Amino acid sequence: MNVQARDAAQEFGHRFGRRPTVSRAPGRVNLIGEHTDYNDGFVMPAALEFATLVAASPRPDRRLNVYSMIMDELRSFDLDAPAATGRHDWSDYVFGVAVMLERAGRRLQGADLVVSTDVPLGSGLSSSAALEVSSAHALLTASGLPFQPIAVAKICQRAENDYVGMRCGIMDQYVSACGVAGAALLIDCRTLESRNVPIAPNLKLLVANSAVRHQHAGGEYNARREACEEGVRLLKPALGAIRALRDVTPEALEANRKLLPDLIYRRCRHIVTENARVLEAERALIAGDFAACGAAMNASHASMRDDFEITCPEVDFLAELAQATLGVYGSRMTGGGFGGCTVSLVEAGAVKRVSQILVDGYRVGCGRDAEIFDCSPSDGAGLIPL
Ligand code: GLA
Repeated sequence: MNVQARDAAQEFGHRFGRRPTVSRAPGRVNLIGEHTDYNDGFVMPAALEFATLVAASPRPDRRLNVYSMIMDELRSFDLDAPAATGRHDWSDYVFGVAVMLERAGRRLQGADLVVSTDVPLGSGLSSSAALEVSSAHALLTASGLPFQPIAVAKICQRAENDYVGMRCGIMDQYVSACGVAGAALLIDCRTLESRNVPIAPNLKLLVANSAVRHQHAGGEYNARREACEEGVRLLKPALGAIRALRDVTPEALEANRKLLPDLIYRRCRHIVTENARVLEAERALIAGDFAACGAAMNASHASMRDDFEITCPEVDFLAELAQATLGVYGSRMTGGGFGGCTVSLVEAGAVKRVSQILVDGYRVGCGRDAEIFDCSPSDGAGLIPL
């Protein structure tokens, strides 16, 4: 049995004196397609082996008691007297999901829960979505209700939007709920359909954590989203029935550039060119043209750095160092931005050498320690057999 699951089940037994079920939902790394999800566009993430586990067992009443092993804190919540807003801590992700599940018609039973995670926190690997989706899985299981992956992803996104206050898109919750071992998912964030994009066994996804922590709730992330919405408002008179930047081609944006202030234009340019790069990366991966996929990733990084302005000097350093290293097809920042991780597409045989170059180079260049993870795409949420 998985050691993390055994520890969570043991902790549960010790605190609550019963045998739990254990639900799992993974973090994710996004290969390409950043900030395109809330613009109805395309993304290509993969679920990770890093995951959040929730050991759970139903209670006869309507209370939720949640203990976090990593925070060493217990929080309680009454489903019949839900607080309108959160407490501004980790428990918001759990209780926000419970509130939104109920609003979506899933009548929940009370439950005791123990949360454990090995997803690095605040690093752009979606620790929040892993907590939301694993909590949803555990709460539904404890209530004897089915886990419908796409519906649950939408409910978890609502929890983060309306309860936590971060206007995220659907990507992280979707891939945490629906991920497939050995493949990335090409997700169309408008139709919510996805296609598996197999990651060849001779390719590795090398994730480098800059150790610069981001804080998304509010702030810069939401500001980027507003800039995209402003772009749509300003382009509408010229382009007619557009609903989102998904509906704007790079050519149409160029032709109407004069309608937009420079900053809004550059924000929009990132999104419309990024959508094209995601589709190109998918084509290239399927064709085995790893160099072309890498080129799209490198261009994505430049666009995030120069047009969307969501990188920082440390992740620029890591991405540029990887891009210049033999055995690396491409490298870019992954996730919401302002710190966190880079992802590099690497020849399997070069992983050890590339990892060492990144660690040594980062220490000399930025005076910090980078953690390197050699990742394989894993399955989305499910029950861990005990
Ligand atoms: C965060 C959000 C996602 C997505 C990415 C950027 O991870 O949760 O919805 O917008 O940032 O691509």
